[in-house]
Amino acid sequence: ARQGGRGDTPGSVSEKIANGSGPLQILLALFSSAITKAFPDLPDPPIVVALSPKFGDYQCNSALPISKLLKSQGISIPPPEVGKRIVENVSEHPLVMKLDVAGPGFINVSIDKNYVSKILTNVVLEGIKPPPVERKLRIVVDFSSPNIAKEMHVGHLRSTIIGESLCRVLEFLNHDVLRINHVGDWGTQFGMLIAHLQERFPDFAENVPPIGDLQAFYKEAKVRFDADAEFKKRAYACVVQLQNFEPTHKRAWEVICDVSRREFQKIYKRLGITLQERGESFYQSRMEKLVKWLDAEGYLEEDEGRKIMWAADKSITVPLTIVKSDGGFTYDTSDMACVQQRVNEEKADWIIYITDSGQASHFQILESCAKRAGLLPSHVKFTHVGFGVVLGEDRKKFKTRSGDTIRLNDLLDEGVSRALETLKAKGRHEVLTPDELKQAMESVAYGCIKYADLSHNRNAEYVFSFDRMLEDRGNTAVYLLYNLTRIRSIARTAGVSSEQLHAAVKNGTQISLDHEKEWKLGKVLLRFPDVIIESLKDVSLHKICDFAYEIATAFSEFYDNCYCVEKDSSGEIKKVYMERLLLCEVTATIMAQLFALLGIDPLSRM
Ligand code: ARG
Repeated sequence: ARQGGRGDTPGSVSEKIANGSGPLQILLALFSSAITKAFPDLPDPPIVVALSPKFGDYQCNSALPISKLLKSQGISIPPPEVGKRIVENVSEHPLVMKLDVAGPGFINVSIDKNYVSKILTNVVLEGIKPPPVERKLRIVVDFSSPNIAKEMHVGHLRSTIIGESLCRVLEFLNHDVLRINHVGDWGTQFGMLIAHLQERFPDFAENVPPIGDLQAFYKEAKVRFDADAEFKKRAYACVVQLQNFEPTHKRAWEVICDVSRREFQKIYKRLGITLQERGESFYQSRMEKLVKWLDAEGYLEEDEGRKIMWAADKSITVPLTIVKSDGGFTYDTSDMACVQQRVNEEKADWIIYITDSGQASHFQILESCAKRAGLLPSHVKFTHVGFGVVLGEDRKKFKTRSGDTIRLNDLLDEGVSRALETLKAKGRHEVLTPDELKQAMESVAYGCIKYADLSHNRNAEYVFSFDRMLEDRGNTAVYLLYNLTRIRSIARTAGVSSEQLHAAVKNGTQISLDHEKEWKLGKVLLRFPDVIIESLKDVSLHKICDFAYEIATAFSEFYDNCYCVEKDSSGEIKKVYMERLLLCEVTATIMAQLFALLGIDPLSRM
């Protein structure tokens, strides 16, 4: 390796690039070091590397901006010359086969087939490894977070799906993730609910009341609350008692929470969601302490009987309401105490909230106020992951025909029956066992709902359409599920077991990448680590979906053009191309890993 350059520590860059890095990560490291060596006096030079399937494989486009930067310092070096100097300083790395400077200084990178083949072949033996990260982080992900006694709606569904997948990606990277369900289980609506419970089911403490429909119960309570002044008074008293943790009131509250919890749990179970419930109530004593302290430190201001807190950032014109005029706490108060708890007790390095974009300003104010009060040190990252609203096929807010909120359990039921219809239309019920059919319809239904959500840019609103998500063509879960099942069956029908694939690798067989379509597929697969890293920037999980689809497409091209197994006219197997079956195996392994990150269950038959 070439040595030298200022500030170079012993060992070449190539040695410092962690194993398991993707081509983009590797090239960024190589070019960054080359540019520093070639132009040691340039502060912060731009390092631009991108995929470039037309010219070579990747391209470094730093020469032009660097030439401009030099010019502004009075040094004139034309871009092609800058490109040449960069190339001269790139350390050797087995990924890079060739570097060419073209036109106005573009550096085209051709990558090495043998390297790609080795990396991919190794996946057959060792499975897929996560890309390396700098440091293991403690990450709190606050997602799903429905409200007790209210229906969990499609917005919560989106939060649940995005949150689950994000946690899976972070856990795959070996971070320490705390999944928190910040349920709305505190607040004045409980006064009304408890008062109504006492009235309707006086023996609620001994006998669990048969409340099947908490929504209806909520509506009844609200009617009483609005109509009867005596009831209203009692409801207010109940809130005070509850917040003082008076045992019978606390019991009533638990009864109500349990009804909701059972409903939520059904949905989480169906969708394979793991979450730890820690609702607003958890912060009651912490809120009391924090509010006293904020008041004493002079952060709070009186405003028509309320106590409010302004953000440090003067461009934020809405304050947090910390104490209401009746002395009660709010959503804002619990979120302030919650930031403090996550920083001090959970030792979070990163706090992530997943809600619809409508709450973006709440989290902006929260972040600024928490910083102002010193609750959120600068080393802790604070991220609100917002998302657009879910629309019905009429492009209006997603509702039932009668205008009610859609119950998620009903929606999931519909998904399952629609998935069954689709499978039956293909005659699958005649081929699959009843168990396989059940598995297939659930995996298709839940998979397609998750995938439809995740494959859209989260910031955009998206139209919920079973017709679209159940299509077996295009970028859908159904298409991908079929593909993975098919890929998995190739070796099986050739009579080659996974032990035989392993043995072949151990005996020196390598994935072949000589055919144009093999090479194309191989280069796509190699990008796995880069895609995972990219998907975390701005939390854009749709990049994982796009990648899965790109693999499926590249695989189809390969499979249409390259024999994996040759048969004679009688269907007898004449020849098995082990090098290609290995490529199939790696494709399946990577796709299955992507499915796992997206929360989709692959099927062995469908
Ligand atoms: N329960 C809230 C809602 O339904 C979402 C809570 C999000 N988390 C938080 N820490 N504020 O809108």
